[in-house]
Amino acid sequence: MPRLASEIDLAGFRNEARELLAHQVPPHEVKWETVHTLNDELFDPPATAADQRSRSIPKAATAIVPASFLRLCEVVVLHHDPQRFALLYRLLWRLVHEPTLRNDPLDADMLHAQQMAQAVRRDMHKMKAFVRFRQVADESHPGEVLHVAWFEPAHHVVEAVAPWFARRFTNIRWAILTPERSVRWDLERLLFGPGASRQDAPAADAGEALWLTYYESIFNPARLKMRQLHKEMPRKYWDNLPEARLIGELSAQAQERSGAMIDQPAQPPQRRIPRPVAVEPEDTLARDGIDSLEQLKAATLRCRECPIGEFATQSVNGEGRLHAPLMFVGEQPGDQEDLQGHPFVGPAGKLLDRALEALGIPRDIVFVSNAVKHFKFELRGKRRIHKSPTQREAAACLHWLEDEIALVQPKALVALGATAARSLMGHAVSVTAERGKWLQRADGRKVLITLHPSALLRMDPEEKDAAFDAFVADLKKAKSVL
Ligand code: URA
Repeated sequence: MPRLASEIDLAGFRNEARELLAHQVPPHEVKWETVHTLNDELFDPPATAADQRSRSIPKAATAIVPASFLRLCEVVVLHHDPQRFALLYRLLWRLVHEPTLRNDPLDADMLHAQQMAQAVRRDMHKMKAFVRFRQVADESHPGEVLHVAWFEPAHHVVEAVAPWFARRFTNIRWAILTPERSVRWDLERLLFGPGASRQDAPAADAGEALWLTYYESIFNPARLKMRQLHKEMPRKYWDNLPEARLIGELSAQAQERSGAMIDQPAQPPQRRIPRPVAVEPEDTLARDGIDSLEQLKAATLRCRECPIGEFATQSVNGEGRLHAPLMFVGEQPGDQEDLQGHPFVGPAGKLLDRALEALGIPRDIVFVSNAVKHFKFELRGKRRIHKSPTQREAAACLHWLEDEIALVQPKALVALGATAARSLMGHAVSVTAERGKWLQRADGRKVLITLHPSALLRMDPEEKDAAFDAFVADLKKAKSVL
């Protein structure tokens, strides 16, 4: 009767199973039990049968099983079925004693285990989708807010899903309560504890009214499919979902609202991507009310014409001499540029400097800028990972770039990569096909197309030297402008 330390004690199961296998104990002679852990911190795990046996017997032999079986075990162990450990041990036994099992896609035990794994994965997915946090005052951190959610998973998935929530909500304190386990994120660690009851979680908070208004306004009656909705959002989760309260009412109005939508006269289609502004330099300066680089900086710092500016530290504008003959245009500031407030000072900037040095071009005689003035990123843990701006975002920023061109009045430009090329030319440019070539803008200025230095940084080490030489060869064509 092996005893496992908790409902999800995979390591214990592996130890016990290895021992049982080494002692040739057939599955029908084994009865698996789990000990419900009440508080991980307070109680040591109980001594298991494997612990006791391992004091008196030599180390167990290692069974070789496919890696896919181990991955299956990791998930099936989280299923609520008390027979799961018996099933897994039976499968393990059979994998060792029946070599044909690994090639039998229709084996009943294997299919059963796979169905269990699927049910667990579905439950993990539902937990990610249907947890709704509500705010309460955090008693252990006076003046701060704790986000608390109640959820009733069908399987033992809390430990498995908690790291996902920690990555997704890294910067807030939160707790998820379930009947069996609770988990809390204190901004540094996940702390697991015993289960709770629904009353321990707040029923509503001030933000809920806002969320309901938002849900109501994005609800599209023409797309409502009740059967699909019930499948994706089963009724048992509705109690936790504030928006579920609206569904009945909104679905009752759906037919009427979609009828009204159909009755409306047709409207001309809207362009998804704003048309790039006309390349009329004086025009954009006058429209933006800008007549110096300092004024431009003040304006971009405030700019919220697209969502990127909200999250960046500051705007990063171009730098260099007014009337520099040559202007380099990159994509957008990176992490270092965002923190320091200067363009091309991070790894891509170092590479650009190296190329300029190879050509004998001092950086201070050119102007270096970007198509987009704010850093767009995605938070992964504590790291800010660069995300390319969308065409819309680059188009929204274009008038600032045109202002810069109008103020600096370069004779020619170098487009570093596809985003810069699109912004400068007003249409998509294939960098692979056009690199090393001069194109001409509507304002008559010539634009040399080449790669973005970051593209070189991402290459395999053995390709880097040749790619750098080709990059320098492209830039050499711009030297005559100087
Ligand atoms: N990449 C860019 O396009 N611009 C910078 O300023 C830095 C990295």
